[in-house]
Amino acid sequence: MPTIRDATEADLPQILAITNAAILETTAVWNNTLATLEARGAWMRDRQGRGFPVLVAEDNGQVLGFASFGDFRPFEGYLHTVEHSIYVATSAHRRGVGSALLATLVERATAMGKHVIVGGIEAGNVASLALHARAGFVETGRMPEVGQKFGRWLDLVFMQKMLNSG
Ligand SMILES: CC(C)(COP(=O)(O)OP(=O)(O)OC[C@H]1O[C@@H](n2cnc3c(N)ncnc32)[C@H](O)[C@@H]1OP(=O)(O)O)[C@@H](O)C(=O)NCCC(=O)NCCS
Repeated sequence: MPTIRDATEADLPQILAITNAAILETTAVWNNTLATLEARGAWMRDRQGRGFPVLVAEDNGQVLGFASFGDFRPFEGYLHTVEHSIYVATSAHRRGVGSALLATLVERATAMGKHVIVGGIEAGNVASLALHARAGFVETGRMPEVGQKFGRWLDLVFMQKMLNSG
């Protein structure tokens, strides 16, 4: 199994490659414009600077996937809720990498005292829906046709997991 650890600047080229493959090939990210190294670096430093994790799954120096969470919405009332994302390189799918990243995100959010962790998932993304269901997430929202990619409407499913009860 890969090691799950906090990402560093040296991981950014591999994070960028995984991000851009997801932009080009999937409905996991609702964007058509490729990311840049500068933008990924700024995103990572912003997340880490605000105390949020950016994790990588590494095996023998190779980044197989990455994951992170941040504010769900930028208003004080949402302070105890975070929204996460997970990306695994296609060549490493179905080897438990996504599950390991998700489990660590849940541990980190719990340790930070967060109350809810939520993921926004395209309704046709069976892999992500199954991954989250297996990790104890439940569907709490479904928004028809709120996005577009590859010339078709996309539905957004929210799945959340309750953490600390405080
Ligand atoms: C979704 C994603 C993160 C899953 O990562 P992964 O490392 O392949 O997942 P795991 O190997 O940990 O799989 C865990 C479980 O999820 C389910 N699952 C994963 N991929 C699946 C698929 N293609 N079809 C059905 N179920 C799937 C299975 O229950 C699996 O357990 P099993 O292999 O023992 O049956 C990965 O497919 C991915 O990065 N996709 C592109 C980006 C993306 O969709 N990110 C999520 C955005 S919300």
